[in-house]
Amino acid sequence: MLKIITKSEEATQVFAKKYAETIGGGDVIGLIGDLGAGKTVFTRGLAEAFGIKRSVNSPTFTLMKVYKIPKKESSIKHLVHIDAYRLKNARELSSIGAEEYFGRVDTVTIIEWADKIKKILPKKTRFIKLKHDKDNKRIIYY
Ligand SMILES: Nc1ncnc2c1ncn2[C@@H]1O[C@H](COP(=O)(O)OP(=O)(O)OP(=O)(O)O)[C@@H](O)[C@H]1O
Ligand SMILES: [Mg+2]
Repeated sequence: MLKIITKSEEATQVFAKKYAETIGGGDVIGLIGDLGAGKTVFTRGLAEAFGIKRSVNSPTFTLMKVYKIPKKESSIKHLVHIDAYRLKNARELSSIGAEEYFGRVDTVTIIEWADKIKKILPKKTRFIKLKHDKDNKRIIYY
């Protein structure tokens, strides 16, 4: 795995935007890291890179949010943001139809707390691990 150290929220977002250039339709990105590690910050950077203007927060109470990608020239039309923190098991996510988005060529899916639902994730899921270091320092493995 590659590794980058960021020293601010902004730096993590800059990295997310760079990472976005490597993403294609159908990709599933699994974020792993403790509370406050920066999973939502990363997701926000990614959403911005796709031109999403709506504010991106942890979809803790909704489990899943689907954002439209406004860029006409983009073949990726939706960003699906899932937060598995409150899930008891992977089945709960299946019951809301989340898997129907996985691998769709017009969709990119990003999942916080992906380790909790590994069972139902595609084999080719791209995992990113975020580790809280001191203060504003985060170590990101990707
Ligand atoms: N280098 C950094 N990268 C990302 N966030 C940072 C960094 N330094 C400080 N922060 C702060 O850490 C917090 C990260 O919060 P964020 O909501 O992204 O965490 P999370 O991993 O999504 O947590 P949760 O599991 O609760 O959803 C923010 O308050 C952000 O400002
Ligand atoms: Mg979060």
